[in-house]
Amino acid sequence: MGISLPPDVTLQPATVNFLRTSPKKLLIGGEWVAPARFETFATFNPATGEELAQTALAGPEDVDRAVQAARDAFENGPWDKLNGEERGRLLWKLADLIETHADELAELETLDNGKPLRVARNGDVPFAVRHFRYYAGLAGKIEGSTIPVSIPNQFVYTRREPMGVVGLIIPWNFPLLMCAWKLAPALACGNTALLKPAEETPLTALRLGELITEAGFPPGVVNILTGPGVPTGAAIVAHMGVDKVAFTGSTEVGREIMKNAALSNLKRVSLELGGKSPNVIFADANLSKAVRGAFWAVFSTSGQECVAGSRLFIERAVYEQVLEGLSAEAQKIRVGSGLTPKVHIGPLISEHQLERVLGYIASGRSGGAQVFKGGERLGGELASGYFLSPTIFTHQDDSLAIVQEEIFGPVVAATAFDDWDELVQRANAVRYGLAAGVWTQDISKAHRFAHTVKAGTVWINGYGYFDAAAPFGGYKESGFGREMGQAAMELYTQVKTIWVGL
Ligand code: NAI
Ligand code: MG
Repeated sequence: MGISLPPDVTLQPATVNFLRTSPKKLLIGGEWVAPARFETFATFNPATGEELAQTALAGPEDVDRAVQAARDAFENGPWDKLNGEERGRLLWKLADLIETHADELAELETLDNGKPLRVARNGDVPFAVRHFRYYAGLAGKIEGSTIPVSIPNQFVYTRREPMGVVGLIIPWNFPLLMCAWKLAPALACGNTALLKPAEETPLTALRLGELITEAGFPPGVVNILTGPGVPTGAAIVAHMGVDKVAFTGSTEVGREIMKNAALSNLKRVSLELGGKSPNVIFADANLSKAVRGAFWAVFSTSGQECVAGSRLFIERAVYEQVLEGLSAEAQKIRVGSGLTPKVHIGPLISEHQLERVLGYIASGRSGGAQVFKGGERLGGELASGYFLSPTIFTHQDDSLAIVQEEIFGPVVAATAFDDWDELVQRANAVRYGLAAGVWTQDISKAHRFAHTVKAGTVWINGYGYFDAAAPFGGYKESGFGREMGQAAMELYTQVKTIWVGL
């Protein structure tokens, strides 16, 4: 296997060893097994277009086997005999192992996803660790309540019980971190899981599977099934033995999952879907901070982020100044292979995504929006990867596809606004409602906007902050359910009410 690397870059021996030996199996019932049909699929390095590894393609038989293993682990011990604190101890141990293997996990993430190594190493991996630790602490603190009722001599209390077998289907933009977002609360609550990473980025989930085994989780508690949406993801959603599906990805697939959950066993569903988040700069903002903030709000992760601040509203008095600032920021940053030191922005995930984003750029141009900056695929030494320069559109037409649809690439649609009512109306005039940002020194205006905008998260004078303790999720077609914080316990438990005749 030849991986071409940027000059002067070498990989950790553990990374190379993992790529050479491990990826072709599925984790089912505590064993690494070949898929029933012996099918595999390739995962690629988006910085070079080269194949990194072949991984197992899980079919319906494998999903079935994993559901049996997860059910058995859920019902027949030793998992169901552990109390919350003991589950927490396993989660903490897993967090320690992730930390020990952080360099290798970060390299696998950069190879598979493309993001800068520095971002994977200092962002994704430690955030995943923090997630497992946060829920390790919560695992022993899941409480019911006692309820006063009007009927005499009845004592009523509730218990929060696990859902059972949960299916976790995740996207490719934060492969390891999404595993943590879903697995940590699901396991803390006592469920057993089938985890399906995205077909574009299966590697860190597979390495995580090895660490889960090493941490001592009983067989069948976590099963890892690599494969595409169809058949692998669809088989999980259709399975009568899966009690709940938690999904992060596109709104289209979310809709499909909800429908198929209804058509099978009415399994519970929680959905983190797309976004088209407004980011607002008022004239009274600290402009240098606002410009930098607005730039990274949309261009970090090459715009492949559900919360990307992809609609930028600029108060007219500072419109030109903000655009010039963004353009200067774009001039400063370096796009390239995530393994190259000092690179700020990596490639898009695949040729398919690149084509999709270029299609949006073409539609913006033909629809009358102006390309203020960027808009081109990068060539030269980057020609074999899927690189696109940060692209800034200016427009005054909110009906354009580049303003209404999630592009999931380094493209921002910037526009000027004149007054409050216009701003609020336009900011909310999309089908999504995931996040929003606002930059102003006027504290009342900031809160007023935060309370008015239809979004699950609002950042004031900042953008894109996340923490394991802070609930996150969508309004409108951005989905429902709140991940992170104590709110996530509601996604992975069900309430049982018990009446006691005294
Ligand atoms: P996707 O929604 O197709 O993929 C996400 C996950 O769902 C993957 O694991 C995939 O294998 C699985 N999946 C696909 N079809 C399925 C099905 N029928 N049943 C069960 N699971 C299924 O997203 P994709 O195709 O990778 O990206 C397309 C667009 O979706 C992006 O351009 C972006 O706009 C949006 N997207 C949004 C994300 C977000 O976090 N908001 C994340 C990923 C994609
Ligand atoms: Mg897809």
